Amino acid sequence: MTTVVVNPGRALRGRLAVPGDKSVSHRAVILGGLARGETVVRGFLASDDCLRTVAAFRAMGRTIEDVEAAGRPALRIRGDGADALREPGDVLDCGNSGTTIRLLAGLLAGRPMFSVLTGDASLRRRPMARVVEPLRTMGAQIAGREEGRYAPLSIMGRRLKGGAVSLSIASAQVKSALLLAGLSADGRTTVTEPQRSRDHTERMLRAFGVAVEVKDETVSVCGPAELAATEVEVPGDLSSAAFFIAASLIVPGSELVIERVGVNPTRTGFLDVLRAMGASVVVEGAREVSGEPVADLVVRASPLRGTVIRGELIPRTIDEIPVLCVLAALAEGETVIEGAEELRVKESDRIAVMAEELGRLGVKVEERPAGMRIIGPQKPVGAECASHGDHRVAMALAVAALGAKGSTTIRDVECVDTSFPGFFDRMDAVRA
Ligand code: S3P
Repeated sequence: MTTVVVNPGRALRGRLAVPGDKSVSHRAVILGGLARGETVVRGFLASDDCLRTVAAFRAMGRTIEDVEAAGRPALRIRGDGADALREPGDVLDCGNSGTTIRLLAGLLAGRPMFSVLTGDASLRRRPMARVVEPLRTMGAQIAGREEGRYAPLSIMGRRLKGGAVSLSIASAQVKSALLLAGLSADGRTTVTEPQRSRDHTERMLRAFGVAVEVKDETVSVCGPAELAATEVEVPGDLSSAAFFIAASLIVPGSELVIERVGVNPTRTGFLDVLRAMGASVVVEGAREVSGEPVADLVVRASPLRGTVIRGELIPRTIDEIPVLCVLAALAEGETVIEGAEELRVKESDRIAVMAEELGRLGVKVEERPAGMRIIGPQKPVGAECASHGDHRVAMALAVAALGAKGSTTIRDVECVDTSFPGFFDRMDAVRA
């Protein structure tokens, strides 16, 4: 178990490029693995989660190599189309990765092969019925623990039929699983969400030559569809940048430029919330790479005020809520988070865990069934806390430690490799 000690002080200054976007990296491997031809993925995030998706495609016979493209690390995927995928010879271990297990469940349900998907203890506690049940309505044969509610899942792939599915929760993983199933199904597959979740799958499918129809909260594809290989440029991950943005806002004297960050509007709830809190974050040089908007973000230390986070902001800011709790503690006044029950089924129960761990640092958080209430300002006091094996909790606690009085020990931090290998070294490097 790895432990770090974080000391406050030392402003964040200069320029920084954060690692590639996790969601986009997974999808680039999946669509590249289904396509015919050579796909090059520049700026791929080589984190534990994304490498699980790579390993799954290697197990299905795909050649995936590390290469360099324009002086940057890249992946090269050679494919002969989805029909050439081979039955994996062993269980596919998705580790901690919800995106790997759910998207692959959708993909494999419609391929003529047998497969078993499992993961670590955290992933085996996460709900799978949300993906298994709608896939069954398309004809999928999936079994799993507790009637398919939990992994391991075993899938006897077969020809599916398209269908119309209405989701009760906004989930990009579920939506993407159904669209991937729809690629090999007969006819049209339509997915409607209560609010729009991140749309990287829709954008990337178009880049691979698949017609995707989007109208409000409804997305549809027609199967069977073929994918044509392409080059993908992965933007920096706003969810990883969030920890540096938050740290820069709270450490006096900080001024940091974060380059080439993805600012897809289905992901930028965090920036909207920060604006409402009075933060100085300027979006510069907006442009598009591989169908995804990117920009440079200029962040300056700022006094913050409390705010309300609810409704359509929740899916657009879901992965940033742990670090927003830290900012809420340091902000003046009340912050309320509502309608965020999904936080309870992420890599950890992020409502309970953030309340518990911020509590160890002397910050009082009122836990609610679907959110929390935090009254600031409350300056954390350096103490010992733990990640509960959740990468975003570990990094959020590191930000709290930067704004604390005294030094903080964070236990069990190797989980940051899930999304941000080298996080602590990068944090050290930008501190003056
Ligand atoms: C992801 C979707 C989100 C997010 C997760 C990654 C994706 O989950 O929390 O970290 O890559 O599709 P939901 O499927 O619950 O929206």
